[in-house]
Amino acid sequence: MVNLQKKYQNGFEAVPGLDLHIDDGEFLVLVGPSGCGKSTVLRMVAGLEDITGGDLLIDDVRVNEMGPQQRDIAMVFQSYALYPNMTVGDNIAFAMKLRKTDKTEMAAKVAEVAELLELTAVLDRKPGQLSGGQRQRVAMGRAIVRNPKLFLMDEPLSNLDAKLRVQTRAEISKLQRRLGVTTMYVTHDQVEAMTMGDRVAVLRRGVLMQCASPAELYESPQNLFVAQFIGSPSMNVVRGNVSSADDHSITLSLGSQHVRIDGEARARLAGLGEYVGREIAIGIRSEALGGDGTASIDVVVDLVEMLGSALLVHSTIDAPAVRSIDTGVEISDKAESAVVASLDPRRQVSEGSRLTLTLDTLRMHAFDLETGDAIGRR
Ligand SMILES: Nc1ncnc2c1ncn2[C@@H]1O[C@H](COP(=O)(O)OP(=O)(O)OP(=O)(O)O)[C@@H](O)[C@H]1O
Ligand SMILES: [Mg+2]
Repeated sequence: MVNLQKKYQNGFEAVPGLDLHIDDGEFLVLVGPSGCGKSTVLRMVAGLEDITGGDLLIDDVRVNEMGPQQRDIAMVFQSYALYPNMTVGDNIAFAMKLRKTDKTEMAAKVAEVAELLELTAVLDRKPGQLSGGQRQRVAMGRAIVRNPKLFLMDEPLSNLDAKLRVQTRAEISKLQRRLGVTTMYVTHDQVEAMTMGDRVAVLRRGVLMQCASPAELYESPQNLFVAQFIGSPSMNVVRGNVSSADDHSITLSLGSQHVRIDGEARARLAGLGEYVGREIAIGIRSEALGGDGTASIDVVVDLVEMLGSALLVHSTIDAPAVRSIDTGVEISDKAESAVVASLDPRRQVSEGSRLTLTLDTLRMHAFDLETGDAIGRR
């Protein structure tokens, strides 16, 4: 899509202009907070919503004015709207019936899809006699039999309970890979986005913040919004100051503490050279505190949470928190902020104690306080 735009009739500009390319066979996830325009984009691609500007190209053909039927797209919604009085088999076969497909061919296709989705045993049941996960798979089956050029899914797992959601998301991923169908998948859940997508496009207020592989989004967020949206626990971000910078090292102050950054870590943050004497936002993921590291910060432990796989240590640092908000960047007016560190679960840490957290400076992030843009290599 090139400069794809949506202005609703009431004048609201839901999508000011989106450029996004999806490769053949790719699983692209569109993620962002509620109301950011994910469904609007998907519905424009499906042909269910008028496009008010820009071009939508499928295989290099402009399809803006094409009806949904001609686009050769299948869509699975949050509410999968199965026909309650039809059997699972008939639900799956429905689109083929409409196209007056040959009976034997239809039966073979239904059997094949049912096998693929592990629905063979329930083919004669009605949707009311299925579990949520099975119903969801029937909806998938209905879309798959059409052999579409493009698969669109809008929060297809949101009606499932947490456990089933995790299981089904893995099933959808596997299925997509096996079928190789180009897929656009919408979710507001960043974990779902990260685990399923070949690439993830992060939207805020209809604007693309970054589109990259899950690893790149996590390791190299281009702005504060992406940095804080992706990852759980959310990245610790506090206001700091660039005390000094030269060709060998950069020194940052976070409240009363100083952090020296040298070597490769300095090179990664070389752009900070232009910020000497100025305030910036410093981002540190919880797992960059408490593993290996060349720097450290001292804290007092407020709370310890044992997750089994990690020990989450909550503490306080004497620097204000910074967070991305709808209109830009907000610096807390409190002088202190909470910092979460993820430690080896075998460590003994007691609440109220003093603790030195090792800091992996290679995994530090810096952001401009005005624009929220990441400050990286020069
Ligand atoms: N028909 C409409 N007329 C005017 N504004 C609309 C219309 N439909 C949606 N919007 C607005 O457009 C924005 C994007 O809506 P959209 O449904 O695409 O969001 P979303 O990202 O899918 O959100 P959610 O995660 O809650 O499903 C919202 O601010 C919404 O209020
Ligand atoms: Mg939506």
